[in-house]
Amino acid sequence: MTKIDDCTLVLFGASGNLSRIKLIPGLFRLDSLGRLPEKMKILSVGRSDVKESAWRDDIKSMLDIKFKKNYDAKVFDRFIARNFYHANPPDDENAFKRLSERLSDASTFPQNLAFFLSVRPSDFASIVDLLASVGLTDETKAWRRVVIEKPFGTNLETAQALQKSITKHLKETQIYRIDHYLGKSALQNILLTRFANHIFDPLWTHEHIDHIQITNNETLGVGERTQFYDATGALRDMIQSHLMQMLALTTMEMPETLSPENIRAEKIKVLESITPIPLSELKKHTFKAQYGRGKINGEEVKGYLEELGSPTSVVETYAALKFYINTPRWKGVPIYVRTAKRLHASDTAIAIKFKKAPLSLPVQADNWLVISIQPKEFTRFEIQTKIPGLDTKVRTVAMDAPNRITGDESVDAYESLLLNLMQGDQSLYLHINEVEASWRLLDPVIKAWNEDKSPVFTYPAGSADPAESKIIFDKPEQFWRQSIEIGENKL
Ligand code: BG6
Repeated sequence: MTKIDDCTLVLFGASGNLSRIKLIPGLFRLDSLGRLPEKMKILSVGRSDVKESAWRDDIKSMLDIKFKKNYDAKVFDRFIARNFYHANPPDDENAFKRLSERLSDASTFPQNLAFFLSVRPSDFASIVDLLASVGLTDETKAWRRVVIEKPFGTNLETAQALQKSITKHLKETQIYRIDHYLGKSALQNILLTRFANHIFDPLWTHEHIDHIQITNNETLGVGERTQFYDATGALRDMIQSHLMQMLALTTMEMPETLSPENIRAEKIKVLESITPIPLSELKKHTFKAQYGRGKINGEEVKGYLEELGSPTSVVETYAALKFYINTPRWKGVPIYVRTAKRLHASDTAIAIKFKKAPLSLPVQADNWLVISIQPKEFTRFEIQTKIPGLDTKVRTVAMDAPNRITGDESVDAYESLLLNLMQGDQSLYLHINEVEASWRLLDPVIKAWNEDKSPVFTYPAGSADPAESKIIFDKPEQFWRQSIEIGENKL
């Protein structure tokens, strides 16, 4: 277990959803697992003037909801004693000076400081400016780290501007850019499956792989976040960050070691080797659609436009893209990336389809390797075996390996990321070059989609992938794979 320095976590946007649902319960869980340093403190910062006792009551209600009132009273007392509240009203010019004075009380607050900015993205740069203006980013006596929630920029230009602004005050080692998917143990499993099993590496090339599918589908709709979503769309919301990271982990070269630097360096290399999508052939490489009214688990749900309350939006809730990686390993292998809200099933997975065996047989299906991330964590390898009997016929059978078995620790992505933050381990955080590489690839597509005001394809909520999405496939026999079903589920 890596030793963690005593530190203070300063949580901006503490009363927001992320903090209530993930961060504070996550910190509590870490405390119950004995993973928080003894003197560690949490200073929640919010705009409203809330009394410390009221804030502590509020924390209790967050934990009651999250753990259904089922938690250890002793751990609760210890956790509550770590928690403080600080009001930073937006109209108070001296707010950050007061914050710095409060934090300078070293008898209460350990001086290693991690600032978690769970705030509006438009506030990231100004908060870092203000922290620096009162000396809170200065590392002369103790470490200072800043966590920036997704999205880091809304395009390449704004990402670069944000980077320029925060690096006036912070070194790369102080910046923790979150992509919470990297905190999922199932995602970390991609690298280990690939590199801890020597059998896979020789097969991981264009000679053996027909294509790869990187999928995140949700049955959920956009929920309360209509305005945010309408300004963002599926491509920006999911593909630019989470899915491009899944793609990088699936296709990167083996790092020299599993050190944070080596892993990030290989991810950056592969992201930078992706061929830009040719805008002249956009319709063969990309597809977008929007959900309409439909049924999820038998219940009627509204369409996107009804939820939004505006009939004209053409923003995508379904996005599918085709990439090629310009390296000898991946020559000519299409990599299909798709994400959707309100599809018939939730499914996050990497599915690799291997080329057909050279021997010609009467009925011959394909070999697939599926690494399922959620809702179930498993690896499935599908092979062809003979059907017992007089004829020479084969069928597909699945070799299933559960990646999670009863009794395994269940750790939320944010819990491992918070721990890494305190440990100073950046391997599960994004390097600026990864963020930039991803924006560089997607910006032109986002721009072209924004300019295209023609009617958007729609799919009923609760349906499978829209049949029209097949347009991006290289070959007629390719189809969208659902991770659980055996590989015959053609559109
Ligand atoms: C977020 C997106 O980053 O990830 C959401 O903004 C999405 O739209 C969510 O629903 C999915 O995360 P998870 O961990 O539930 O798969």
